[in-house]
Amino acid sequence: MRLDKYISGAADLSRKEAGTAVRRGRVAVGGVKISDPAAQVPDGASVTLDGTEVSYREFCYVMLNKPEGYVSSTDDPGAPTVMELLPPELVRMGLFPCGRLDRYTTGLMILTNDGGASHRALSPKSHVEKAYAFTCRDPLERVDELESGVHIAGGYLTKPCKVEKTGDREGRITLREGKYHQIKQMLEAVGNKIVTLERISFAGIPLDPALARGEWRELTAEEEILFTGAKKKEDKK
Ligand code: URA
Repeated sequence: MRLDKYISGAADLSRKEAGTAVRRGRVAVGGVKISDPAAQVPDGASVTLDGTEVSYREFCYVMLNKPEGYVSSTDDPGAPTVMELLPPELVRMGLFPCGRLDRYTTGLMILTNDGGASHRALSPKSHVEKAYAFTCRDPLERVDELESGVHIAGGYLTKPCKVEKTGDREGRITLREGKYHQIKQMLEAVGNKIVTLERISFAGIPLDPALARGEWRELTAEEEILFTGAKKKEDKK
């Protein structure tokens, strides 16, 4: 990998800033100062910036508490996107939302630049669990029907899921699939209507109650394992 790319990824600098840092002699590889931004960094080499060791991170995983009104895509001409809630250094790393939440749905979104892990988490074959808390217009009834499956758009019969009534007009639903507007459509199939919808967990990762709407943090090492299914990374405490 080129040295300027390495420094950019390791030190939250733009590629241009990283190039300047290299040219100014602030970077050493294996203890030797290198001033060519195009120099290649050998695998496993120790790299320092201003004397402090830095290491390149390829993948980044972020939990965001999505507020209402934001769309979960990287670009939308008509509405604010969840990307606008992230700092520039994360946007520069190429993060994107893992799956979609409706514009008016709030709660847990995971954003990453790990396309493979995102694809696996969203694949119907993975049966990853997603849990939501909702309120509805009318008293929550026909819970057994919701649990065993209802017909939504295109005649699709939803897969068995778990529904827990938590109040007269509120509940929790845990799905292992994700059709377009699925929960909205499921409630409509039993003559009701979603009023608010919040995702409270994804792949066994609960929404961090310390995160206010619009706030984000990186996944912990344990959460990263739940999301990627990968082994614990030695470099993450
Ligand atoms: N189901 C919905 O209807 N909307 C969402 O945002 C997520 C699941």
